[in-house]
Amino acid sequence: MKLFAQNPPPGPFRRETWRSPVRGPWLTSVLGAALLVGIPVVFATGLLSYVAYEPALGSNNLIGDPGLLDFYVFSWPTSPSWLYALTQGLHVTIGIALVPIVLVKLWSAMPKLFEWPPLRSPAHALERASLALLVSSTLFQFATGIFNAQLYYPWKFSFLSAHFYGGWVFIAAFVLHAVLRVPTMRRSLRERRLLDELRRGLDETTPERGQSALIAPAPSAPTISRRGVLAVTGGASLGLLALTAGQSVGGPLREIALLAPHGRDLGDGPNDFQVNKTASSLGITATQTGADWRLRVAGGTRRVELSRTQLLAMAQQTYELPIACVEGWSTTQTWTGVRLRDLAALAGVESFDELLVESLQEAGSFRRATLSAGQVGDRRSLLALRVNGADLSPDHGFPARIVVPALPGVHCTKWVNRLEFRATRA
Ligand code: HEM
Repeated sequence: MKLFAQNPPPGPFRRETWRSPVRGPWLTSVLGAALLVGIPVVFATGLLSYVAYEPALGSNNLIGDPGLLDFYVFSWPTSPSWLYALTQGLHVTIGIALVPIVLVKLWSAMPKLFEWPPLRSPAHALERASLALLVSSTLFQFATGIFNAQLYYPWKFSFLSAHFYGGWVFIAAFVLHAVLRVPTMRRSLRERRLLDELRRGLDETTPERGQSALIAPAPSAPTISRRGVLAVTGGASLGLLALTAGQSVGGPLREIALLAPHGRDLGDGPNDFQVNKTASSLGITATQTGADWRLRVAGGTRRVELSRTQLLAMAQQTYELPIACVEGWSTTQTWTGVRLRDLAALAGVESFDELLVESLQEAGSFRRATLSAGQVGDRRSLLALRVNGADLSPDHGFPARIVVPALPGVHCTKWVNRLEFRATRA
């Protein structure tokens, strides 16, 4: 046993393999401190996205029963109208900007992942298992999030379920790791002042002192200073921030939102803004949306079927409202249409708890969505018929689509053909 412990196999299990003189608890702690600020923001805004889907209503829950993992759910408000654009913009933008920090953090801590002997005691085995969970769930959450934001799905599982449950595994492992490592972090950060370190160039870069397994026992000559490592990491992080933020912030930054699949302005016409799913990709035909199209409204004392001409003859309202997508982009446009609450009144709906919205689309998870009574009751909640003074284009949901303030874009159902006001409470 002793022989096994004292003779690591060649390669990464031998401490001498790790020769960088900048690796050590201080660098790992600085990167850890940055993650300690950034990760909670990404986690909290991720949970808010789940809340914004209103999972307790009708058809909205797409991940099954999460048991106790939905204790924080509350009714998602409609004001301010940019709320979801803000929370989801932060989730995606900060998540992407943290990537270089996570990768350099893993690089800095790498020797510890190859500790030898791999298991020393039951307590050590538990610690290693929690680390394995931390590293694998980190990679999983970041990879699935980034692929999803790029509308690229190289997997067969449900993204929503996997990212939701994966997020809980990740945060449990993260909190445990942070609690165990905060004392080391505080001690290490006291040993070197950040400002002093930022003044030290390559010539003054020497290995840290101490017993940590992260410190190279046989360091090579430095090829980069700690200042250099932090500058490259911070620069990459800020660069990603700048290349992503424009998809939510808009303005001149939208021009450089190169990483956002729908981030840049698409032209000057009234309908030239981001489209996630086109009509043709979901099999919506011109015949379905043509003269024979009708909106059916159920749940009241009157059966109502309206053509687009009849809808246009009703009182029209115009509001400037954002469409904010779960992939992080958002865009504010001027929508015109009929208030949802006017349609309820027309159908003779006296009281209701939720509104089921159905679309012509037959494929896709979001062919229906359920809105709360609070969302329907907001005076700005529309069945939109026009945008920026023009008819909706086929890809933006012609003949009619839902636009509700602060509602996630996937619930702003396009090609709506049926509304059902429902009473769910006795
Ligand atoms: C995405 C999140 C994170 C990942 C993937 C990660 C990964 C790792 C790994 C693999 C290790 C080596 C094993 C160990 O010593 O436990 C480590 C060490 C460490 N981490 Fe993290 N970490 C993360 C976040 C944090 C945070 C938020 C802090 C702040 C408290 C932190 C502080 C530290 C410290 C102080 C060490 C030990 C340095 C030493 O042993 O000398 N880490 N981290």
